[in-house]
Amino acid sequence: SVLEMEVQQINKGKYEHYMQKEIHEQPESLTTTMRGRLIRGGSHKVKTVLLGGLKDHLKTIRRSRRIVFIGCGTSYNAALAARPILEELSGVPVTMEVASDLLDRQGPIYREDTAVFVSQSGETADTLLALEYALENGALCVGITNTVGSAIARHTHCGVHINAGAEIGVASTKAYTSQIVVMAMLALAIGGDTISNEAKREATIDGLIDLPNKVREVLQLDQEMKDLAKLLIAEQSLLVFGRGYNYATALEGALKVKEVALMHSEGILAGEMKHGPLALVDENLPIVVIATRDACFSKQQSVIQQLHARKGRLIVMCSKGDAAAVSPGESCRAIEVPQVEDCLQPVVNIIPLQLLAYHLTVLRGFNVDQPRNLAKSVTTQ
Ligand code: AGP
Repeated sequence: SVLEMEVQQINKGKYEHYMQKEIHEQPESLTTTMRGRLIRGGSHKVKTVLLGGLKDHLKTIRRSRRIVFIGCGTSYNAALAARPILEELSGVPVTMEVASDLLDRQGPIYREDTAVFVSQSGETADTLLALEYALENGALCVGITNTVGSAIARHTHCGVHINAGAEIGVASTKAYTSQIVVMAMLALAIGGDTISNEAKREATIDGLIDLPNKVREVLQLDQEMKDLAKLLIAEQSLLVFGRGYNYATALEGALKVKEVALMHSEGILAGEMKHGPLALVDENLPIVVIATRDACFSKQQSVIQQLHARKGRLIVMCSKGDAAAVSPGESCRAIEVPQVEDCLQPVVNIIPLQLLAYHLTVLRGFNVDQPRNLAKSVTTQ
């Protein structure tokens, strides 16, 4: 109705689409996600992470034999982005399960496991069925959702709300970054204050506090991403190469492009390049390579060299000031992003790709907020 349309316009404020609004409000949604959870000590130094919904269960989680992340789509990707920091700080093995695949295999879940269910809506059928399965198998079940009172929030033993605010666009954007931040805080909470973790802990907490500012900075790439979208508007396909902390960024960037811009896109683990994907490389296929500064940087530099040697059409995402260092030739484009603590870099790096997917969609004339064939929350199997 006309009234409904007017209400929607009011909700979108100055933005044309919910996806656009939700991308641009990430500095605020991340601030809300962290509010009251990073506790400062006397000297104004942040001392600790407080996740109220978990505090009675942290000991059990620390003692568990394994932590299993379970989710679908973007929520799975967010867990994948957080996996390295959780492994590093907790010392507990972390494994990943796509909810439907765990159910298909009836994969092993044990009493000694902590199963973490990640879902924006808290109502996804596959994730909910995987939760029932894990409960039957006696695992400690933790929920990470954006929806208070949702089925997953109600049926888990404990959990954390991401507090990102309602997400309307079918393509998940601000929930993804808030999920990563919550899981980084989860890693800090589980890791505890051991001496061996101290430097990493402090750097991560400082990084979290400054993260909304860095996200505000990276959002300034909006026009640059629109220009890039104009160049890519008629492409059939886009590859995204990532590794380490940013393998998830590659998968999530590609998911955004395919689900809203209706363009084939594939996230590729750069370490697998020579095991197949390299055969696709020619002078026409556009390839995004994520090569921001972290422990994998020099490996990514050599990936860039090898793609360039095959005349690959490269778009390199790099840390500020690195454009010249990473560009192998004139034809290569660079996207410079602010550098943050390595485990938080996926939060910054996904944003140019969200913007790219958004602009590609608008330029190609597709429905941004409700892509064909998709539903915001997939409540059937
Ligand atoms: C994300 O852009 C997709 N629409 C989709 O992959 C989504 O993340 C998935 O269906 C899981 O939803 P949930 O987080 O609400 O469980």
